[in-house]
Amino acid sequence: MCKQRKHGQTSQNGSKLPVVQRVPSSKFATCKREGFAARFTCAMSTQIDTVRSFPHAKPPSGPEVDSFYYLAGVELEHMFCRGLGCFAAQHLDSERWRKAMAQWPPVFCLGKCYTAPSSADEDVQPVIEIRCKDPIVLAGVPGGEVRALKDYGPYRALERARKMSPSGVVAEMEKSHLRGRGGAAFPNGTKWRSVRDRPGAVKYVVANADEGDHGSYIDRFIIENAPHRLIEAILIAAYAIGASKGYIYLRKEYPVARVALQEALDEAREAGYLAAVCPGGATEAEASERAGDVATGFDIELVIGKGSYVCGEETSLLNSIEHRRPEVRARPPYPFQSGLWSKPTLVTNIETLANVPWIVLNGGEAYAVKGFSTSRGTKAVSFSSLFNRPGLYEIDFGISLRELFYDIGGGLKTGDLKAVIVGGPLAGAIHPREFDTPFAIDELASIGAAVGHGGIVGFDEHTHMLDLLAYIFSFGSQESCGKCTPCRVGSRRAEVLFWRLARGDKLKPEEREELRAILSALRKTSLCGHGTGLGEVAQSILSKFPQEVTLCLA
Ligand SMILES: Cc1cc2nc3c(=O)[nH]c(=O)nc-3n(C[C@H](O)[C@H](O)[C@H](O)COP(=O)(O)O)c2cc1C
Ligand code: SF4
Repeated sequence: MCKQRKHGQTSQNGSKLPVVQRVPSSKFATCKREGFAARFTCAMSTQIDTVRSFPHAKPPSGPEVDSFYYLAGVELEHMFCRGLGCFAAQHLDSERWRKAMAQWPPVFCLGKCYTAPSSADEDVQPVIEIRCKDPIVLAGVPGGEVRALKDYGPYRALERARKMSPSGVVAEMEKSHLRGRGGAAFPNGTKWRSVRDRPGAVKYVVANADEGDHGSYIDRFIIENAPHRLIEAILIAAYAIGASKGYIYLRKEYPVARVALQEALDEAREAGYLAAVCPGGATEAEASERAGDVATGFDIELVIGKGSYVCGEETSLLNSIEHRRPEVRARPPYPFQSGLWSKPTLVTNIETLANVPWIVLNGGEAYAVKGFSTSRGTKAVSFSSLFNRPGLYEIDFGISLRELFYDIGGGLKTGDLKAVIVGGPLAGAIHPREFDTPFAIDELASIGAAVGHGGIVGFDEHTHMLDLLAYIFSFGSQESCGKCTPCRVGSRRAEVLFWRLARGDKLKPEEREELRAILSALRKTSLCGHGTGLGEVAQSILSKFPQEVTLCLA
C-alpha cells in the first residue's frame, strides 16, 4: 500500500508549493486556472523547464511528496520509539512500548537503543569506549575532545590531500580496501574512482546520515562528537572526485546531531574551509573552474529527512534531496553515472567517511594492514539496552561473535541470548550456535547475517520468533516505497499471514504455499535491498529457529 493512501496526510495549504527557487513569479501569473490545484500544476510544469536548464533548481515539495513521509511537519516531542531495539526490550517497560505502538505517526528508531524502550524526551548519553588497538572513527569521541573546531584542529588531512593529485587521493582510498559501512560494504575506492572518471564538470558528494537501521546510533554520535571529521572527509572526497557541492542528508529523528552539524558547518565556513555563500545554480563553465578546487566556493548543504526508512537507500535519498517523491530509482544508471540532478554523485555513509582523514594522513596501505580477512580497518558497533553494557564501541574486526556479545556487550541482563540481529531489521538473525563466527563482513554474510550498520540487538526468551517476524513485516510493509510489486503487495500480505501465525492461527496449505512464494519473490525480484532484506531475514529466522515456526508452517 502506498504511503500516500496509508497516511492520508495532506498539506495544510498550498503555500509551500511556489517556494521553487529561481522560478520567476510571472510564470504563475500567466496561469489561467485558479486555486491550489492550479498552482500545483503550474509550478510543476514550470519546474520541468527549470530543472532542464539549471541543474540545482528544486522541484516543489507538496502533498504528493510530503504524504510519503511519517514526520513531515510533525514534532518529535513526547514521542516513543517503535524500533527493533525497543521491540526486543519491550518487557523492560511495557507501558512505554504500549504507548509507542498506540502513537501515530510511528517513529522507527530515535537512535537511543541504549535506553530502549526509548522516548524522544530523554536525554541520556550512552557509554562510548574504544575497544580496539588503534581507534579511527571514534578517536577523541569518548572524551568529547574533537567536538569544536578549536579542539579538532586545522584540517591537516585536507591540507595533505591537496598536496597530492586528486587521482592520487583516490588511489589511497583504493589501497585502503575500505568497504562502505552503510550496509552494502561496497569497495569505497572503486566508487570514488568511478565518479572521478565520469565526464562532466558538475558532480556531487552526498553524505548519507539517514541511519535508519534500528539498533545503530554510530553515525549519530560521530556527527554529534566529531562533526569536523565528517566535514573534512567530504572536502577531501570533493577534491578527489571533482565535486562542486556537497550534501549531508540527516534523519529528522536526530535533533541534537542537527544542531551539532549546523554549528560545525558555520565554524568551517568562518574558518574558510567552506564558501560563505552557497554557489548553487552555477553554470557548467563556472563549476568547471572550481571543480577540484575546494577553496573557491565548495559548500555543504544540510538536508533534513522527514521520517522514512527507505530514504536511506541511496536513490530514494537522491529523490528526497531533489524534493521528489522518494521512491527508489531503477538501476542502472547508478548514482556514480547519473545521481543528483542526473550528475555523477558519490553517495556514502557517515562512518565510511569518518575513516577518510585517517587514511589520507597515514596512507591507504597503513589502513589496509588493520583488520581481518576482507574487512579492513576497524568498526564501530552499538549495543541495545538488553545488553549489560549497552553503548557504542570501536572494535577490531575478527573477534568472535561470542567475545563481542559477552566480553564487550556483557551478555543480556535478562537471561540467555536466544538470537541476535546485527545491522538492522532486515539483516538475518544469528543463532547462538553461530557465535564462534568471526565478526567480519564476508564471514557474517556466509551465515546469512550481516555486519551492516553495526547496530546489535539481542533477544531473550521473551521474544517469540513469530512475533519478531510479524513485527519486521509490519515495519517493512509500512516503509515500503511502493515502487515494485513484490515489496508493495507481498510485504503487506506476508505481514497479515505472519500476524495470524503469531496469534496462533493455522494457515491453510494454500496460504502456506502463498507465503513461501511471497518470500521467494521478495528475495529474488525486489528492486532494492528493502524487499530483498525482508525475504532474507524471514528465510534466516524460519531456517534457524525451526522449533518455533515449523509447527505453523509445516
Ligand atoms: C532500504 C535501505 C535503507 C538504507 N539505509 C541506509 C542508511 O540509513 N544509511 C546509509 O549509510 N546507507 C543506507 N543504505 C545503503 C545505501 O543505499 C548506500 O549503499 C550507502 O549509503 C552507501 O554508502 P557506503 O558505500 O559508504 O556504505 C540503505 C539501503 C537500503 C536498501
Ligand atoms: S523493494 Fe521495491 S517497493 Fe520495496 S522499498 Fe525497494 S523499490 Fe520500494
